[in-house]
Amino acid sequence: MSTAKVRVNDREYELPLVVGSEKETGVDVRKLRAASGVITYDPGYGNTGSCSSGITFIDGEKGILRYRGYPIEQLAVSARFLEVAYLLIEGRLPTQDDFAGFTGRLNGHTMIHEDMKKFFEGYPPTAHPMAILSMMVSALSTYYRDTRAPADINLNIVRLIAKAITIAAFSYKKSIGQPFVYPLNHFTYTENFLHMMFAVPAEEYQVPAVVDEALNMLLILHADHEQNCSTATVRMVGSSEASLFASISAGINALSGPLHGGANQKVIEMLQRILDDGGDHQKYVAKAKDKEDAFRLMGFGHRVYKNYDPRARLLKQAADDVLDSLGVNDPLLDIARQLEEVALHDDYFVERKLYPNVDFYSGIIYRAMGIPTNMFTVMFALGRLPGWIAHWKEMVSDPHGRIHRPRQIYTGETERGLVPMAER
Ligand code: CMC
Repeated sequence: MSTAKVRVNDREYELPLVVGSEKETGVDVRKLRAASGVITYDPGYGNTGSCSSGITFIDGEKGILRYRGYPIEQLAVSARFLEVAYLLIEGRLPTQDDFAGFTGRLNGHTMIHEDMKKFFEGYPPTAHPMAILSMMVSALSTYYRDTRAPADINLNIVRLIAKAITIAAFSYKKSIGQPFVYPLNHFTYTENFLHMMFAVPAEEYQVPAVVDEALNMLLILHADHEQNCSTATVRMVGSSEASLFASISAGINALSGPLHGGANQKVIEMLQRILDDGGDHQKYVAKAKDKEDAFRLMGFGHRVYKNYDPRARLLKQAADDVLDSLGVNDPLLDIARQLEEVALHDDYFVERKLYPNVDFYSGIIYRAMGIPTNMFTVMFALGRLPGWIAHWKEMVSDPHGRIHRPRQIYTGETERGLVPMAER
């Protein structure tokens, strides 16, 4: 067996290597502390494998992304989102019968309990829909038995996927003061979501095929991305044996941050700011490079990709196609293209291998589809849901699973005596 040797204070320790199916190699440091007294130090976990997983493979240097072995480029154009959800969660592509069974089960759970609608009355119209989504998902555990019994898990997975689109659409309807539109189960998953978002009781709503196709692709591109911040959060929370709904709700909150899923909203706000400021994208590239300036180019850079994010490549093309088909002329798309052009040839970005990520072009497509900016991160969450579920399930079924509990290097005060308050 191959091993790695670590020398600590003149003593050498031999550590086993762990090798994955794509020859990714890790040094297994689990016994290092017990043997040597030292821990590994890796703030931000940039070089730490927190688990082994059979779900998604990424090669960030080559720009490769595969779900269960299938290249993202093939899935994005040839699969339905629920097919991909099934693939991630069950580990294999569904047959036609599997798919009919899966969609049939989902259709039985698309409504939320009528009492849960009352929660929406309590939220102010300005509430961010990501906060509503995480609260509502957490609240599901007050309505449904949320244990780790396999029957409960399987049913709750179906409930979660089915109800997520209803909760998301209701939060939008609430924010614009329109009545909720109930799911119609002859629709596909994506059609049903668009119907609940955009139908109004007074008018007939036809789901535009181009919008439906675009949504399908966007959800697939977001469906999983191995141990990112939100997925690692889902696993972290779930490792304490917290329930599915509690763990996913935590993942939604982790996703909301602007360095993670919240970036898609921030990209559009940034592009709008550049447009309102006269459209001088060069000025903003300079700001992004200025270390005295906190401004960053949102939608650029990635912890793992040191090459063009394959999802961004697909979305760049999709942005052109969708806007063309819908006859939308968005000045923000022109600014985005110019910004990318400058950044890709600028030494600062080239040296740091900073490329557009999945969030750079997705917002422009969502805008063209009529989805409001504050719903963009919710769209990301709807897509990521099967990924989170697949990781949670994988973690729960790992016989060697343990509670996640990192160590630290303490840098605070060493022991000192307490001085009574009156004498301080
Ligand atoms: N604009 C300007 N400089 C940047 C950017 C950016 N968007 N991203 C990274 N850098 C610089 C950073 O300042 C640092 O420079 P230096 O070496 O001189 O200190 C270097 O590049 C490495 O950056 P880092 O912050 O150490 O990299 P990280 O892996 O910790 O962060 C990131 C990754 C995605 C948080 C970061 O690139 C970023 O903040 N990007 C903008 C936010 C964004 O688009 N987030 C969505 C990520 S993709 C979707 C998802 O998975 O959530």
